[in-house]
Amino acid sequence: MQKSNQIILQCININKSYELKKGFFGGKIKIDALKNINLNIYSNEILGLVGESGSGKSTLGKIILRLIEPDSGRIIFNNQDITKLSYRDMKKVRTKMQAVFQDPLSSLNPRMRVIDLLREPLKIHTKMTLREIDNEIALTLNQVGINIDDTYKYPHEFSGGQRQRINLARALLLKPEFLVADEPVSSLDVSIQAQILNLFMELQKIYRFSMLFISHDLRVVRHISDRIAVISKGEIVELGETQKIFHQPENEYTKKLISSLPEKHFSH
Ligand SMILES: Nc1ncnc2c1ncn2[C@@H]1O[C@H](COP(=O)(O)OP(=O)(O)OP(=O)(O)O)[C@@H](O)[C@H]1O
Ligand SMILES: [Mg+2]
Repeated sequence: MQKSNQIILQCININKSYELKKGFFGGKIKIDALKNINLNIYSNEILGLVGESGSGKSTLGKIILRLIEPDSGRIIFNNQDITKLSYRDMKKVRTKMQAVFQDPLSSLNPRMRVIDLLREPLKIHTKMTLREIDNEIALTLNQVGINIDDTYKYPHEFSGGQRQRINLARALLLKPEFLVADEPVSSLDVSIQAQILNLFMELQKIYRFSMLFISHDLRVVRHISDRIAVISKGEIVELGETQKIFHQPENEYTKKLISSLPEKHFSH
């Protein structure tokens, strides 16, 4: 269910294309990765963005995070147009908007101990003392189920699921209002996927962040989302409450996606 009427993040007429060189002889081809995307995300909600590989999901996530620039369109966050913010002004926004990506090993610097990886955002963005920082880290690690005594270890010394817990703790330390999670469980075993999805949901209740949750896997998105946006070839073809999308899909592409799910997943 849409949980509030307050919009936290708005995508307005977002377009993005990539140009690729074609072969040896120089010709160029243009890929329209996003075509006129309009999307509202409300306070406190988990909005699932689902679509097949290459449909434009990560491109949209990166544009929202301002990791890449759109060709046109605007991103409004907390009533502020962040599309053209300077690096300095964007730094303030970044504390409120965090990201969790697919492969925790590549998003955690392998040469830093986990405790230092966790201290880093608080050192950069707050004026907290080291003691305050470590207290905050201990609290957050407890919430994600990681033992504080293990944080002298390096990222590769943890399992994939544990690494994603650490990644989530790192994102939450700054108490963000908005998270972009791009395929955060895709590299994990199915049994671990459910644990991490449940953790996201538990923490969402505690921290009350809003989240754009990106996945190519409809079952994953169904489990976690209040509403679902279906994206195909750079266009949002359907958007609605999760139950509605599953029980009364209107768009042909959505229907096709749902009918491709194995039968047993319809029972829960
Ligand atoms: N840096 C880039 N340069 C050129 N083309 C790109 C670039 N990034 C993405 N694309 C193209 O843009 C389209 C959308 O890509 P995007 O990564 O957003 O898809 P996606 O939905 O996240 O896919 P996946 O499920 O595989 O992660 C694809 O056709 C992709 O090949
Ligand atoms: Mg992607």
